[in-house]
Amino acid sequence: MPSDDQFLPPDQGLPVVGVIVAAGSGVRLGGSVPKALRQVNGRSLVARSCDALVAGGCTDLVVVIADGLQPDFEAALGGVTVPVHYALGGDRRQDSVVNGLDVLARVPELEACRVVLVHDAARALVPPAVVATVISTVQAGAAAVIPVVPMIDSVRRDHVISGGHGSSIVDRSELRLVQTPQGFDRQVLLDSHARAVELALEVTDDAAVCEANGHDVVLVAGSRDALKITEPHDVLVAEAICREREPVR
Ligand code: C5P
Repeated sequence: MPSDDQFLPPDQGLPVVGVIVAAGSGVRLGGSVPKALRQVNGRSLVARSCDALVAGGCTDLVVVIADGLQPDFEAALGGVTVPVHYALGGDRRQDSVVNGLDVLARVPELEACRVVLVHDAARALVPPAVVATVISTVQAGAAAVIPVVPMIDSVRRDHVISGGHGSSIVDRSELRLVQTPQGFDRQVLLDSHARAVELALEVTDDAAVCEANGHDVVLVAGSRDALKITEPHDVLVAEAICREREPVR
């Protein structure tokens, strides 16, 4: 009689690593502390991102930070319930991701990891259900998975025409806003980033890196709550979401 374990997916029980990039300067948000350490309703953005990734199924985290800030991040992440590793950020977001991925090769406990998520610390309020969907879609065989939401505004393209500027309407029904965490087969992500370095590709997210290396990207439903907290107005929205979720905090 086979044990129940034999019917679990082949990667059940293996580490699922969340790489959280938090090394940006956050100048658009203003304030004296780095953006990821800014608090919303009493908890920092980076701690909230860690909480969401862990609640969604990540077993280990890599947090990519700016030089000299590890003590501040360690203090902010004291209550996180899974191992947290640190890496130094690079000049661009994609360099920070590469530095974070390097940790996977250095930590023996992460050798068996097959699923890697990459998440912007600034998307601190992503619901754990979105994280769980991203993980299970990679575990089911997708090479690259991204959460997306539809566009609600009308969209226009602003372009130069002879003698000035013109504009034209864009069909928004096909457009999607891309969020994080994005999930990947570990080897696909490592190989694609290595290739991007070789080709000097400039990208704004990791799915684009994999797509450029010939992999299909699977879309899953994201959430408006996973807004990228970038400008002061976003903090107001985030605080309102937190008050709704945590009324007695
Ligand atoms: O600049 P942008 O809004 O695209 O940043 C998205 C995320 O990438 C943020 O969480 C930011 O901290 C991170 N980032 C980074 N290293 C950089 C630039 C951005 O970790 N060099």
